[in-house]
Amino acid sequence: MDEMDKTPKQIVAELDKYVIGQDAAKKSIAVALRNRYRRMQVPAAMRDEITPKNVLMIGPTGVGKTEIARRLAKIVNAPFVKVEATKFTEVGYVGRDVESMVRDLVEVAYKMEQDAAFTRVRDKATQRADEDLVRVLVPAKPSADQQKQAQERFTAMMRDLQRGKMPDFSQALQQEAEEDHLSPEVQAERQRVRQQLQNGELEQQDVTIQVTDPGQSVGNNDMLGQMGIDLSAMQSMLPQRRVTRTMPVAEAREVFIREESAQLVNDADLAEAAIKRAENTGIVFIDEIDKITATVQRNSGEVSREGVQRDILPIVEGSQVKTKYGMVSTDHMLFIASGAFHESKPSDLIAELQGRFPIRVELDDLGVDDFVKILTEPQNALVKQYMALIATDNVKVTFTIEAIQRIAQIAYDVNHDTDNIGARRLHTILERLLEDLLYEGPDMGVGVVTITEAYVDEKIGKIAKNQDLSRYIL
Ligand SMILES: Nc1ncnc2c1ncn2[C@@H]1O[C@H](COP(=O)(O)OP(=O)(O)OP(=O)(O)O)[C@@H](O)[C@H]1O
Ligand SMILES: [Mg+2]
Repeated sequence: MDEMDKTPKQIVAELDKYVIGQDAAKKSIAVALRNRYRRMQVPAAMRDEITPKNVLMIGPTGVGKTEIARRLAKIVNAPFVKVEATKFTEVGYVGRDVESMVRDLVEVAYKMEQDAAFTRVRDKATQRADEDLVRVLVPAKPSADQQKQAQERFTAMMRDLQRGKMPDFSQALQQEAEEDHLSPEVQAERQRVRQQLQNGELEQQDVTIQVTDPGQSVGNNDMLGQMGIDLSAMQSMLPQRRVTRTMPVAEAREVFIREESAQLVNDADLAEAAIKRAENTGIVFIDEIDKITATVQRNSGEVSREGVQRDILPIVEGSQVKTKYGMVSTDHMLFIASGAFHESKPSDLIAELQGRFPIRVELDDLGVDDFVKILTEPQNALVKQYMALIATDNVKVTFTIEAIQRIAQIAYDVNHDTDNIGARRLHTILERLLEDLLYEGPDMGVGVVTITEAYVDEKIGKIAKNQDLSRYIL
């Protein structure tokens, strides 16, 4: 597991690049992650006894709870899903059952394994794809026949693929042999095109190829998934529909690379690896957990919130879930729950569930200084985003430090005069502030615009001072 061995300090340092402040939360989570890595190092007999300590993040809206979780998954390169607790319904009711979070996680893990495997075979698949391109660009025979042959080859290929077969070398050899029967002209032409492809001379040229019809899908039915019915298996029983599409060579190569890669990797191995990965490194982030406490439930007609909590319990506690890749144990997955807990308290959760989230971290309300940093410091910070967007119109915008401070101050004031929506306020304020520039930018014919404190005051100062106005606009 490549990037699992980051130390807590390294994880925090990475998080610092994106999330301002919230040191306590970052630290707890980094430790929880490191503990999982540590667990993998202890002797097997003890390993199974060590269960992860799940984390409950508590803090007002818009202060970075979801942001931390989102960044985290990328940093540790672990399969990660984020679910909203409110989306689930109790078993027996129509809606998403809680086990779907585990199925989704395995799906993500599978994608990761697949990507990794595809990267490993990329060189080989690229070579093959180039040969596929050569054959399409210089057909062996007049096209009707060729089409039919190609179609047969594709069908055979897809069949293999669905059975998760290993690369078929005899087929490759056969294609070599086929080459022998080609007329010298075709062979020469193919050689020429092969060379051109290698030189990258044909990248923009259009080519017509057969691709799997993306529209043909049985869909991802949750009800069936719940019963462990694998829809993709059903799908593979249907004949694959191929459609003809025209696209540049560069794009067609990618299509072929995907198809060739799928042939080169073993599906069963991927499934197995995906399950392992999900079991040992999976992170499930359950957002809005405060919204499924009984106290928040107002309407007696609603599905029982406590029922959902009871359903979540065994998953967090460790149980087996059936997925289309096989049974998955949730024993060692890390669960991070999060909620604002405005109207309820963690102690309003059912007792058993509280116990499963022993690590509590509180996130702090954000101040003016935090806002200044959020606007400017993180990689792809808001201000940088807008600068990049506007730069596409050949307008260079810069912000003075005073202007940034003013924006942060206004955001803070509006949060306190109306509703406190945390850093999300910065989004609405910036949007309003730059509205005119975004509208007129392309026609202004000026190269440089500097956003000063005065500009900020002119555009949003008045609105911010008027509570009623800012309630609607900012
Ligand atoms: N501490 C922070 N550092 C950097 N950006 C932040 C921070 N807090 C919030 N943001 C920005 O604000 C937005 C909202 O934050 P986030 O989604 O993390 O809120 P939240 O705490 O999960 O709130 P909620 O309880 O409403 O779900 C994010 O898109 C992020 O850009
Ligand atoms: Mg959130």
